[in-house]
Parts: sequence; C-alpha cells; structure tokens
Amino acid sequence: MSIQKIIENVYAVGSKDPRRPLFDQLMPLEEGTSYNSYLIKGSEKIALIDTVYPPFEQDIEEKLNELHIDHIDYIIADHGEQDHSGALPGLLKKYPMAKIVTNQKCKEITMGFLPLKEEDYLVVGDGDSISLGDKTLEFMMMPWVHWPDTMFTYLKEDGILFTTDFFGAHATNFDLFWEDDPRLIPLAKAYYAEIMQPFARVFQKYIPRVEEMAPKMIASSHGPIYKKPSFIIDLYKEWTSPNKKNQVVIVGVSMYGSTDQMVDYITERLTEKGIQVKYYDAVHLNATGLASDLIDSMGLIVATPTVLTGPHPAVVMPIFLANVLKPTLKYIGLIGSYSWGTLVDKQVVGMLGNLKDVQILPPVLAKGTPKDVDKKALDELVEKIAVYHAS
Ligand code: FEO
Repeated sequence: MSIQKIIENVYAVGSKDPRRPLFDQLMPLEEGTSYNSYLIKGSEKIALIDTVYPPFEQDIEEKLNELHIDHIDYIIADHGEQDHSGALPGLLKKYPMAKIVTNQKCKEITMGFLPLKEEDYLVVGDGDSISLGDKTLEFMMMPWVHWPDTMFTYLKEDGILFTTDFFGAHATNFDLFWEDDPRLIPLAKAYYAEIMQPFARVFQKYIPRVEEMAPKMIASSHGPIYKKPSFIIDLYKEWTSPNKKNQVVIVGVSMYGSTDQMVDYITERLTEKGIQVKYYDAVHLNATGLASDLIDSMGLIVATPTVLTGPHPAVVMPIFLANVLKPTLKYIGLIGSYSWGTLVDKQVVGMLGNLKDVQILPPVLAKGTPKDVDKKALDELVEKIAVYHAS
C-alpha cells in the first residue's frame, strides 16, 4: 500500500498483506488483510496512530522516510494486539524521543509481549487529550473491542475517529475511502462475526456514543476508511440487534447416514414452516460462513452421531466456535443417531456453557436409523422451534 493522503497533513502509512491466508490460524481470509497506521502532522508535534504487524516494519519505515519524517512525538497505541503494536520497538529505535501514548491496560499488555520499558509510555485515560499544535487528539476508552485494552482516538479538528479493530474488515481490494458500495458488506460481516460477535451487547452502548460524535470519517485499523460513517454504523446496528432472521443453522456430520436422514427430515419440516435452514458440513467446515450466519439466526441445531459416548470430533470444533463467539441465539437443538448408548446430550450442553440466555431444547437421539417414533420426536422439536420463529 503506497502512502495515501487522507486530508492535509494526515496520511495512511500502513501496509496491505493480500496473501495472508488465515487470521489467528483459524479464519480463512478471502483477500488477506491490511494493518492500518495513520500519520498526523500538527503545527508543533507529530503523531502516529498504531503501527503494523512486525513483518511490515520496514514498509512503514520506508513510508515515513519518504514523507521526510525525522521525528515522531507520540505513537498512539489504540490496542495492544501485535498486528498493530508489533512494530513499536523498531519505531522507538528509529524515533527514540517518541512516547507511546496508551491506557494502563494496553501498556501492561504490550509490555508483556514486546521489549518495552516503563519510561517509553505516556498513560492516558478516558477524555484525556494531547495537542499537536493546530490538531488535538482526544482519547475514548472503549474496552472489549475485542480486548480489554482498546481505545479510540478522535482527531477533533478534522472529525476523524480512529477506532482500532472496531468497524474493520479483512479487505485489501480497496483504494482508501469507502462510501456505500455493498461489495464490502460480506467482508465486514465476516470480520464482525469472527472478532466482534462475542461483545455485541457491549457495542449496543458504544454505537450510540459514536453516532453522537458524528465523525466525518471512521478510520479503522483493518480495511478502508469510511467517508460515510453511517454505512458501517448502520451495519453494526443490524448485526448487534437482538432481532433475528427467520433462520436456523444446522451444523452436522454423519458416519453411515442415519444422522443425515434426521437432518434431511427436520430440514424439510422446518422449510415447510417457512423457516430458512442454513446447513454447515462439520467435516469440511466453512467457519467464516458459520460465524456470519450465527449473527442472524434464531437457533442452532447440532447434528451428530455418537462416537463411543460423545459427539463426533468433527462437530466439536463448530460447537466450541459457537461457544466462543457467543451468538445471541434463542435456542439450541441436538439431534443424531447412536448405536448402543450415548452421553452426547450432556457432553454437547457442557461445551456450550458460555451461552447463558439460550434455551436448550430436548434432544432427539435415535437408536440406529430414525424410525417413526424418532420422526415424531423431530416433529415435536420442529413445533417447539416454530414458537420462537412465530414471535
Ligand atoms: Fe487487529 Fe485485535 O487486532
């Protein structure tokens, strides 16, 4: 990514990493990601907002050289994760007079990962500000976006809100600004689903705070700058809303076809009721699709045969993922076949302990292939599910 001028004396100096295949060694990236960093030249002082992932340290240093930056006064660390903080030690070596400006929690986290010292930091709190001369940076503590250390920085005179990971997207196929082209929506949604989803309730308080500020631009640490902030704000309102689509996710695996027969049966019955079923194959899991669909779905049905006494190992990963992402589901169902005995219901429920406000529906577990009695139990399960979708 070349240097890009946002407005007079404010530049994007971060890096694109289009060939990165996975984030957190878990989520596939369609077009890699970017590590955004912003340089702000005030009339008296210079600040850099966030750095980059360490493999791109040379890239940011070359950009700063190209801009003839011979000193930096402040490096703002809005978040301590190393895709943004990793180049702090190298940049402090290049600009030894610079202070890292951050909150106490981010200071502790970055000192835990990086060779940094107490005296490298200037600690700020909510509402604090620093002057760069003709420009002012104001700090807002916004913990749990998605770590406890996160804060936003507001460039007051120009109305640019820097939101660290919040409102981000793993996207590299963009110029600099984004207005309302819907092409970004699935990428921003996947990013929200995988990183932000567990904190949806927290964000219901943060989003109005951002709206009240009415920033002219939102600049996140991944993806484009939103020149029309309402585009991404409205999407976040939708994704954090307790209102769900008339949709249920089934994630399943079958060894000899009995559990698949149950999935087919319940899918047909749910579809007859007008409920959309999104099925995910646990063996060849599209984790991004699953995470995104969990945002909008009323419920989740786990379909698994019993392996010895527990769920099939392939379905454990998506169950664990759902437990980590904490989607605001209304209900969870469990269906599947077993041969001689099963503890699958206890084990699956035990894996979903993070989902506090969700109703666990009675499991439907068939001995062998599903018989009429099992189909009747599936019909009863569908009736229970339909109640949620009717309200
Ligand atoms: Fe993009 Fe939480 O780091």
